[in-house]
Amino acid sequence: MKDLLLKIKTIGQDPTGSGYLSFFEAYKDVPFGIKRIYYIYHVPVGTKRGMHAHKTLQQVLWCPYGEIEVVLDNGKEKKSYLLDSPEKALLVLKGVWHDMYWKKEGSVLCVAASDYYDENDYIRDYDEFLKYIKEGFWNNED
Ligand code: TYD
Repeated sequence: MKDLLLKIKTIGQDPTGSGYLSFFEAYKDVPFGIKRIYYIYHVPVGTKRGMHAHKTLQQVLWCPYGEIEVVLDNGKEKKSYLLDSPEKALLVLKGVWHDMYWKKEGSVLCVAASDYYDENDYIRDYDEFLKYIKEGFWNNED
């Protein structure tokens, strides 16, 4: 699996200064346009979310506060990433099964997505996901 972790550009001073500002831009820092932002919060530590893949949706995840582990699975390989800094972002591209684990109280997960919400774009059954992989659904596109 290629490296999907990005360092978010950040401007600012050390904690005794006036703080930090982090930013990224569509098509420049992330390889797609952004049509939707959502965020997940007030999640009890130990909770697992995600457990799906997308047929076409591209997403970037970041954690402005807290610690969230994200496990990506392309059907052949699994890789775990710890989002524990506001300067880390993780690309979750189409065809990647993802699970998120809340590790610290108060952690917030922000997501910028390439398209509007569409339940039909979700694959929520792991065996169905493996079937899509086996049939080469995402193979000839990248
Ligand atoms: P889901 O993407 O399954 O969240 P997670 O992977 O974190 O568990 O979404 C949870 C619910 O929220 C589901 O019923 C779909 C709904 N939802 C929307 O209506 N709009 C959205 O933009 C998103 C992301 C989810």
